[in-house]
Amino acid sequence: MYKEIAEEKFNKLKKEFKTRDIIILAIESSCDETSVAIIKNGREVLSNIISSQIDIHAKFGGVVPEVASRNHLMAINGVVKEALQKANVELKDVDAVAVTYGAGLVGALLVGVNYAKSLAYALKVPLIKVNHIKGHISANYIASPNLEPPFLSLIVSGGHTAIVKVENFLKNTLIGSTIDDAIGESYDKVAKALGLGYPGGPKIDKLAKEGKNNITFITHNIMPNGFNFSYSGLKTAVINYIHTKKQKNEEINIPDVCASFQHTAVMEIVNKTIKAAKKYKLKTVVVAGGVASNSYLRETLSNLGEKEGLTVLFPPMVLCTDNAAMIGAEAYNNIISGEGLADLTLTAVSNLHLKYSVK
Ligand code: KG4
Ligand code: ZN
Repeated sequence: MYKEIAEEKFNKLKKEFKTRDIIILAIESSCDETSVAIIKNGREVLSNIISSQIDIHAKFGGVVPEVASRNHLMAINGVVKEALQKANVELKDVDAVAVTYGAGLVGALLVGVNYAKSLAYALKVPLIKVNHIKGHISANYIASPNLEPPFLSLIVSGGHTAIVKVENFLKNTLIGSTIDDAIGESYDKVAKALGLGYPGGPKIDKLAKEGKNNITFITHNIMPNGFNFSYSGLKTAVINYIHTKKQKNEEINIPDVCASFQHTAVMEIVNKTIKAAKKYKLKTVVVAGGVASNSYLRETLSNLGEKEGLTVLFPPMVLCTDNAAMIGAEAYNNIISGEGLADLTLTAVSNLHLKYSVK
């Protein structure tokens, strides 16, 4: 019964989106942020509440999956209430419930997925399943409401490093990706080796401002040709440098290590992104994922991109790292394209990949 009602309402939303407002309640719980947002017409953020567990996981030096699920469970009800209240929206006004179903930590995802299923069932509204990485790209539609595909997207997060051609709301073509570690992962691991704690990205970003790019990290792995990446070699080179210094009892200039690592890591993605934009004749570059909040990447890609006549878009900081507003934006794009409707059998898919066609 629910399934038929949801299907009918979903088809109605697809038909009526140009003539009426669509209110989506979106839930994100793939890692260590419990987030709920209320989004109007896929572009207007009425509320975007983010309850972060960073302080809890920092004690362990990284995200502990069981601890993450337990904290999502404790937080989610309150976060939903706060999101509705802040948006001044009641449950009866919600047209669809959207949820991240992958990729991410399975136990963490399941909290959001099960909550979303119960809510959609109780409200008798469509349940929309959202791919987390596509959500990161869609953060840019909120920041730049007139943005439309095709464009080039650089996805840089804790789990992904990829250059993708976004052909339309549904189709992506993979141009290049990492063959080992993701860039965010290399930031986190280098930070851990330097004793900076979790999450490493923002800490390295800050310290690098006080340092000089004066250390050359020899990486045999950074891929000179094509559009693929390798961050494992760079991470190992930095860790080896730190170990050698420690063995020799020599002082480590942490800001210089941060600045030098960051320069190598960032230039690799900047150069390949600009090369890809030229090759595929795309004038707009859209950056997505947690590492999009990195100040050196924002500055370098914007400046060098501009020199090449590119428009480079970054979401505001709060929409770069995990949040539910981006999930709502992506759900809206799905609804108006007639995609993404899930039923009550929806489950979490921890290793969900972006569906690409490959060039
Ligand atoms: O997108 P995100 O919030 O979660 C994933 O889906 O992975 O990205 C988290 C990653 C972490 O590796 C974190 O260290 C990195 O983004 N990050 C940064 C910065 N802020 C977050 N990396 C470099 N510079 C930053 N300012
Ligand atoms: Zn993410």
